[in-house]
Amino acid sequence: MAALIETDGHPPDEQPWQALADLLPVGLAIVSLTPEGPGRVIAANPALLALLRGASGTPPELFADAAWVDPEERNRLRAALREPHPIVDMPARLRRADGSVAHVEITAVVGGGSAGGSADVNVGTHELQGTHELRGTQRLQVGTLSGRCVQVLVRDVGERRRREEQSRDLYQQLLQAEKMAALGQTMSGVAHELNNPLGAILALAERLRVQGARTPLASGLHTLHKEAERAARIARQLLTFARKRQTTRLMVPLNEVVAETVRLREEDLQRAGLRVSVDLADDLPDVFADPHQLQQVVLNLLINAEHAMVRAEVGRLVRVRTSRDDTDHVRIEVEDDGPGMTADVVSRIFDPFFTTKDVGEGTGLGLAVVQAIVAEHGGRIDVASTPGAGARFAVVLPAAGATVQAPRMQTTVVADTSDRFGEGLRVLLADDEPALAGAVADTLRDAGFEVTMAGDGQEALARAQAQTFDAVICDLRMPRVDGPTFYRAIAAISPPQARRVIFVTGDVTGTEAARFLDESGCRWLAKPFRLAELLRVVRDVVG
Ligand SMILES: Nc1ncnc2c1ncn2[C@@H]1O[C@H](COP(=O)(O)OP(=O)(O)OP(=O)(O)O)[C@@H](O)[C@H]1O
Ligand SMILES: [Mg+2]
Repeated sequence: MAALIETDGHPPDEQPWQALADLLPVGLAIVSLTPEGPGRVIAANPALLALLRGASGTPPELFADAAWVDPEERNRLRAALREPHPIVDMPARLRRADGSVAHVEITAVVGGGSAGGSADVNVGTHELQGTHELRGTQRLQVGTLSGRCVQVLVRDVGERRRREEQSRDLYQQLLQAEKMAALGQTMSGVAHELNNPLGAILALAERLRVQGARTPLASGLHTLHKEAERAARIARQLLTFARKRQTTRLMVPLNEVVAETVRLREEDLQRAGLRVSVDLADDLPDVFADPHQLQQVVLNLLINAEHAMVRAEVGRLVRVRTSRDDTDHVRIEVEDDGPGMTADVVSRIFDPFFTTKDVGEGTGLGLAVVQAIVAEHGGRIDVASTPGAGARFAVVLPAAGATVQAPRMQTTVVADTSDRFGEGLRVLLADDEPALAGAVADTLRDAGFEVTMAGDGQEALARAQAQTFDAVICDLRMPRVDGPTFYRAIAAISPPQARRVIFVTGDVTGTEAARFLDESGCRWLAKPFRLAELLRVVRDVVG
């Protein structure tokens, strides 16, 4: 194999070199050098032939047009060969006989005849053109080399590139995940801080709206409440998205959740001139789910439909349907006859922060949250939409199997403040947030309760030791004696009273307080909550 390695003028025994070239997993070729550049392949080892052939076919000539994805690359190689230096690892894309692309790195050096003489080289018996048996032991093609030639080394770097791309992708994903995690951390921190003031604003707005319904301020109070709801929704959304929201799992009658959510939006839909039709299947099995999260799902879909129709001034009906999907799945559908979406928009709607709305009108978290919740419940969501012809979102959730043993969500009719179900009953309210506590206390009084307030856990404990209450509403985090300590103390004195404790929490998952709620099985409400919701839980406790 004198063409590959030159010795001091005596051609070496070619056999060992031949064997080595045959075995080498790197493509080797000796190519004649014409005045125009590299020409015919005089010799090629099996690895190169295999590389150029691919799955099947006749390997193309190395420097022929057919062998190059971009002949420009070949031209660059040719030009570089005119320079006196060897070419090392020049990247190129070769076209294999089977049509596929080989990513290679080419090393080449002009050799032979460099001293001006000519070298005759016999490099084997392997045919380059025609059919080939690419067995390693086969010999290279016979060729006669007169004058200069190019010795070429072709390395297939496809696998390496794939690995590099893969690790780049992984790295990007990791980076993205880390960014999201950091963002989630920050967002949930902010949302959490907002929960206390929002809780108070929402409670007061809800109360004022009810109280001022028949006054000239009614419309302003309506807007105040609506915007407070919206702010609270964003905070909840952020916490859900960052998986920092306290969750619970109960047997949930889906129809109830859907009906109540529609009730929440009904007034706004009507004001916007939209109709909503509700069609609930009567034989629906319960789902084992977090009722608040399910409400978030339905609410987000409803609001999206409403927004889309109002913004585009197209459509007027939202249909909400529940049905059995099959024996062990249930289905919720929210369909509108609004403007619909293009395929491009549909492909991105579940991306966090994707929105087509103006700044201040949408955060782009609605559907990301829907998807996360649905996935967490082992369900799926389907979208069907045509531009100009509305949109239909279908959520399919597994029905709770007969084996699930869990308490059922309380389905008491929403209590409103005009219902004085608390007449003659005493409630202890322990909260260190005076604004929120004030709104809650007023609401309870409206419902007929006699309310005793406590500004911290120690005071609450003293009150609870002095007399028995029909219900105790208690912030989980309080100065001096915190919620869990208060609860344990009460449980030690009077277990029935402990069962009537309702915790209110702005706390997030993963904290000790959250674990306490899980373990104690206490009733609890996450801030910001609706007063109507609070009343329902209270009614459940005293009823
Ligand atoms: N029913 C619908 N009709 C038309 N477009 C919709 C509908 N539902 C969602 N979209 C499109 O999907 C986008 C993303 O929705 P998503 O609920 O995630 O965010 P958003 O509504 O823009 O903001 P957010 O819900 O956080 O306030 C919307 O901006 C809108 O373009
Ligand atoms: Mg939305």
